[in-house]
Amino acid sequence: MHKISVIPGDGAGQEVIPEALRVLERVAELEYRHFDWGSEYYFHHGRMMPEDALARLAETDAILLGAIGHPDIPDNITLNGLLLPIRREFDQFANVRPAILYTGVESPLAGKRGIDMVVVRENTEGEYAQVGGFLYRHQPEEVAVQTAVFTRRGIERVVRFAFELARKRNMKRRVTSVTKSNAQGFGMVLWDRVFDAVAAEFPEIETESLLVDAAAMNFVRRPESFDVVVGSNLFGDILSDLSAIIAGSIGLAASANLDPTRRHPSMFEPVHGSAPDIAGRGIVNPLAAILSGAMMLDHLGLDGGRVERAVAGVLAEGDIRTADLGGSSSTREVTDAVMDRL
Ligand code: NAI
Ligand code: MG
Repeated sequence: MHKISVIPGDGAGQEVIPEALRVLERVAELEYRHFDWGSEYYFHHGRMMPEDALARLAETDAILLGAIGHPDIPDNITLNGLLLPIRREFDQFANVRPAILYTGVESPLAGKRGIDMVVVRENTEGEYAQVGGFLYRHQPEEVAVQTAVFTRRGIERVVRFAFELARKRNMKRRVTSVTKSNAQGFGMVLWDRVFDAVAAEFPEIETESLLVDAAAMNFVRRPESFDVVVGSNLFGDILSDLSAIIAGSIGLAASANLDPTRRHPSMFEPVHGSAPDIAGRGIVNPLAAILSGAMMLDHLGLDGGRVERAVAGVLAEGDIRTADLGGSSSTREVTDAVMDRL
């Protein structure tokens, strides 16, 4: 039986993960290990997770995470104390974020239909490599250096993943690469070269290379034209929030941090954070977490499609939805509606 590490984390994460588990328990036999790591753990122990946390996670096949973030702890502590070590240690180099405008959901882009894309973000290096430092710290002449790191291996494996995904999705059969190689003439130029080399192995897939500013514009102007979009850590981060919102709500956006080689567990999490502004009132949208659970099932070779179809059915029907989608249903009512369809 597959072993799943469950880390609800903070705020909204505490509310949506139990809902995702209710759905998963309905459709699959999985063994769960529950971990109470996050900001409450930090207040008691001075760290976000125990010293042997990564070793314990490594014993399991996948990780289901809610969200991490607390108004009283700086975000760089929560992020670097839990989320980033997991992504790095387990070499989860492909951050996969589908953006689908489901029937029954309005895009904030008036009249837009047919949005069905996946943003693949490089998840281990690039602009988030944390290479750099301060000089003359806290003095008036202080200097900060932050270096982006691009490796041929790092680019190649995420670009190849993107092409394989486009082939598997078998939809528009298009991969869009996003860089800024006119201004960043080293790392991004290497990216462009590697992209072209990998593209040559996939002659049946159409390619497009966009500068990130043009990509941002085109996500708004012609979102329906995109299929798989691949970009660096920073660009993928920004563009995937944009793709999430044009598909209706951050409350619907699911994601996976994959180690496609399967040497390590992959991690599945809603894109949203701990939502301190609305957490604790029973009104957060559980669908992003439920859809993340569905992505986990697919990764484990189980039937996540069944869960996604149930979610799509609830959205298409239109009467049960949380406030972020213009409704007034509770978190629990939305999950119940998904369960009814299963
Ligand atoms: P956020 O995603 O928590 O919230 C942004 C907005 O979306 C808020 O208005 C919130 O109410 C709404 N929202 C979020 N999830 C929702 C849901 N399931 N249903 C309905 N509405 C939802 O991002 P924010 O406010 O920038 O960050 C809050 C905290 O979360 C910070 O501490 C931040 O560092 C952390 N964070 C953690 C992430 C993670 O664990 N992967 C990702 C993003 C933020
Ligand atoms: Mg982000």
